[in-house]
Amino acid sequence: MRIFVDTGDINEVKQAAEWGILDGVTTNPTLIAKAGKGFRETVLAICEAVPGGDISAEVVATDYPTMLKEAMEISSWHPQITVKVPLIKDGIKLVSTLSDKGIRTNVTLVFTVGQALLAAKAGATYISNFVGRVDDLNIDGMAAVEETVQMVDTYGFDSEVLVASVRHPLHVTQAIAAGAHVATMPLKIIEMLFHHPLTDSGLERFLADWNKAGLSIFDKATV
Ligand code: G3P
Repeated sequence: MRIFVDTGDINEVKQAAEWGILDGVTTNPTLIAKAGKGFRETVLAICEAVPGGDISAEVVATDYPTMLKEAMEISSWHPQITVKVPLIKDGIKLVSTLSDKGIRTNVTLVFTVGQALLAAKAGATYISNFVGRVDDLNIDGMAAVEETVQMVDTYGFDSEVLVASVRHPLHVTQAIAAGAHVATMPLKIIEMLFHHPLTDSGLERFLADWNKAGLSIFDKATV
C-alpha cells in the first residue's frame, strides 16, 4: 500500500520524504489555507520535495465550466499533479472530461460504494474514501472502503482506492487488511506507525549489553 501525507505544510512533506517512504501528498482547500501561502507556490514546492511523487491539488469551483478551467490551470503547473475533484454531478462530468484528456484525477468526499461506482465509471485515477469523518458519526467508515476495493476488483476498474480522513494507526492497519491501494494521513500518524514499546525497550537492552561488553564496530585505527 502506498503512503501519502495529507498536508499543505512543506516542512511536514520534507520530513516524510526524508524517510524514503513517501509516495505522494494530498492537499485540500482547508490544508492549503492553513499553510498560509499561495496555492501554486505551495503545490510546486511540494512537487519539488517529492520527486516523482503523486501530488493532489483540488479545484474549488462547483460548476463544470469553471471547474474545467481550474483543472486545466492546476494540471499545467507540474506533471506530478493529480486534479482533486469533489463528488458532485459537475465534478463527475469533469472527471470524465479529464480522463479523456489523460489528466489524472482524485475524486474526493466519497463516503459510499455507490458514489465510488460513479467515480470509477467516470475514470477516476483515485477514489478518496473518507473514514474518520464517518467514524465520528458512530458508523464504521472502513466498511465503504472494503466494499469499494471489492467493487473495483470485481468489475476490473482502473481506479485505485485511496483511504482518506485517517485519524489513527488502526485505520492504516484496517486499510491494509481491506486491500486499499493508498492511504493518506497526517504526518503525526506516519510518526505513530514507527512506535512500539517493545521496539524501544528492545533497542535499549541491545545497546546496554553492547556497551557493557565494550564492543566496537570499527577498528580503533579507523575511528
Ligand atoms: O484530505 C482529505 C482528508 O484526509 C481529510 O481528513 O481528518 O479532515 O477528516 P479529516
